[in-house]
Amino acid sequence: MSRDPEELAGAFPAGFRWGAATAAYQIEGGWAADGKGLGIWDVFCRRPGAIADGESGEVACDHYRRWRDDVDLMAGMGLTDYRFSISWPRVIPAGSGPVNQAGLDFYDRLVEALLERGIRPLVTLYHWDLPQALQERGGWTSSESPGWFAAYAGEVVRRLGDRVTDWATLNEPHVAAFAGHATGVHAPGLKDWSLALRAAHSLLLGHGQAAAAIRSAAPRAQVGIALNLSVFEPAGASGEDAAAAERADGHLNRWFLDPLFGRGYPADLVELYGQLLPADAARDLEGWNGGLDFLGVNYYTRRHVRAAAASPLRLEYAQRPDAALTAMGWEVYPDGLRELLVRLHRDYRPAYLLVTESGAAFEDSPDQDGQVQDPLRRAYLADHVGVAAQAIAEGVPLRGYFVWSLMDNFEWSFGYSKRFGLYRVDYGSQRRTLKASGRWYRSLIQAHSLRAAPA
Ligand code: FCB
Repeated sequence: MSRDPEELAGAFPAGFRWGAATAAYQIEGGWAADGKGLGIWDVFCRRPGAIADGESGEVACDHYRRWRDDVDLMAGMGLTDYRFSISWPRVIPAGSGPVNQAGLDFYDRLVEALLERGIRPLVTLYHWDLPQALQERGGWTSSESPGWFAAYAGEVVRRLGDRVTDWATLNEPHVAAFAGHATGVHAPGLKDWSLALRAAHSLLLGHGQAAAAIRSAAPRAQVGIALNLSVFEPAGASGEDAAAAERADGHLNRWFLDPLFGRGYPADLVELYGQLLPADAARDLEGWNGGLDFLGVNYYTRRHVRAAAASPLRLEYAQRPDAALTAMGWEVYPDGLRELLVRLHRDYRPAYLLVTESGAAFEDSPDQDGQVQDPLRRAYLADHVGVAAQAIAEGVPLRGYFVWSLMDNFEWSFGYSKRFGLYRVDYGSQRRTLKASGRWYRSLIQAHSLRAAPA
């Protein structure tokens, strides 16, 4: 597939949505501004050793104050769409109860500015920043958490739902559940598989209750979810490795997809988790589905899997010696995105799909003027956009593509050491500079809009 923007643009239908994505805690800063409550990431970042270099999102990209300029940057790149998330503790500081109008005002102004620039917002309601007050009541492991989430969703949609049509309830419930509660590398930093499975279950139910709250406040809303999904290869030729790859697929992909599409939890994983799973979990999902208008796919890499004693999953991830890696150590494997999209369409038939995140961290080295030539990121982007076009040609109803990320930002436990942005952020001055990859994306969007324009 060509990397030429003109040629690639021709492979996408008119109306295809070109976006970039961010998340509140990763860019906003303003951690205590205007009545915001504490979130679990505010607290987790203070734990010694939790975050590389002891960093936090207290200031991040200072987007809470620079949002207007940041909307200009989006417009400058020609984005048709922008995916951002709302900070729950900014809107409801104690997690449940009184609403902080100043918090909602911030998002209201942002939405207005986007719409003025002709940029369509896709709003994620939960991108991992649970109010700390709710964590102290058990967080996502509490059976009350789906209700807390739905009440918060209702407040946001009542305020913004007359202008925002596109909603993602959750970002990557898998990561929120397992990185947060099993491996403990994310907030709230717990290490207990049964709590992780309980959290995963509440997140699913929370998605369902929030979706209902969104629809009741905004009947024309399009409701989806953003899942981190991947493709798995057995590391070796043995049957054990093949079975391990199947377990990895069940753990990451099917554990959320199957219930969301009305099939309940996958039987092989239910058996594997055994007593770790809450006793009533399977019953809760009888007759349940996620009622999705669209499925959001976050795709970064493929995983090689080997059977091992480690973890309840009895597998470990391996690296192929010849693999090209990003700065995260993730294999660059564009065709996995095509495979995944084709499989999702074949096996689950979502009404339509959006790539809600795709992107890469590389060690950018700016020149003397702060300009960034980032050929690896540009190639990554072009190749992934290219396979998305192939998936469309194979019949997948893919309607949009959101690059992670609009700008360099706080990459969770890696702090500021990993840069995913189309814009470089100089954290000292908060100056943003469009990277060569961003210029490439701008040309693609421009070429596509010119094609779609009537002659
Ligand atoms: C995804 C997250 C996003 C970002 C990218 C690199 O898992 O949704 O916030 O950290 O990875």
